[in-house]
Amino acid sequence: MKILTFDSLPSTNQYCELLDLDGYEEFTIFNAIEQTDGIGQRGNHWEAESGKNLTFSLILKPTFLPIAEQFQLTKCISLGIVDWLETLVPEGHKVSIKWPNDIYVEEKKICGTLTSAKVSGNSITAAIAGIGINLNQRHFPEWVPNPISLVQIRACETDTSAALNDVAYAIELRYNQLRDNPNAPNCDYLSHLLHLGEERKYHYRGETINAMITGVNRFGHLELLKPTGESLVCQMKEIQWIW
Ligand code: BTN
Repeated sequence: MKILTFDSLPSTNQYCELLDLDGYEEFTIFNAIEQTDGIGQRGNHWEAESGKNLTFSLILKPTFLPIAEQFQLTKCISLGIVDWLETLVPEGHKVSIKWPNDIYVEEKKICGTLTSAKVSGNSITAAIAGIGINLNQRHFPEWVPNPISLVQIRACETDTSAALNDVAYAIELRYNQLRDNPNAPNCDYLSHLLHLGEERKYHYRGETINAMITGVNRFGHLELLKPTGESLVCQMKEIQWIW
């Protein structure tokens, strides 16, 4: 693992997108102490106060994974972050994965990930896994949906360099497991899925529905069951949580 740290970058993901990734080994990490234009999901801005959080991108070369299985990568990255967080949060605090790849402590978001894959033929040649983790930030702007940071949970600050080493190591363990067995992350991903098996309200294709999450299929689509017995399979843009 090699960590390259930058004082300030607009976005570590955007920086990596411009690189010829052939020139970088797997598990090279591009870490920014400050991100001035961090990118979140659906083109949103990723908010992170300078020097207080982790904002980094990890280069992976999962050439062993067929394109159709690329959601396995999302699972193993999420699980690595969960494994690491579970060693830090006080007992009784539940760490979950809000489908597809947000990491939550109880009902609040502590980490977001944004992964893009480079493909050639039927295989993935490289992936850029962008990870933002709220560590020592105590206040968030109002527009940030549902945030929480580690300092708000543990009531003590976390060393950013140690955290980066440890979370990257935890992801590497899960990634090595995936390489050995492509089904390895399935059970743990499901058992950490936020609101699995609970009937709740969601916005689905413009309406409010009651439904229960029952699983995630091999393409990474969310499976739900309505009280009427109707099953739904949906993609990210189709469904929103109602808190
Ligand atoms: C989300 O919206 O939940 C995804 C957030 C991903 C943020 C990280 S921070 C490091 C990397 N660089 C970026 O610009 N975005 C990702």
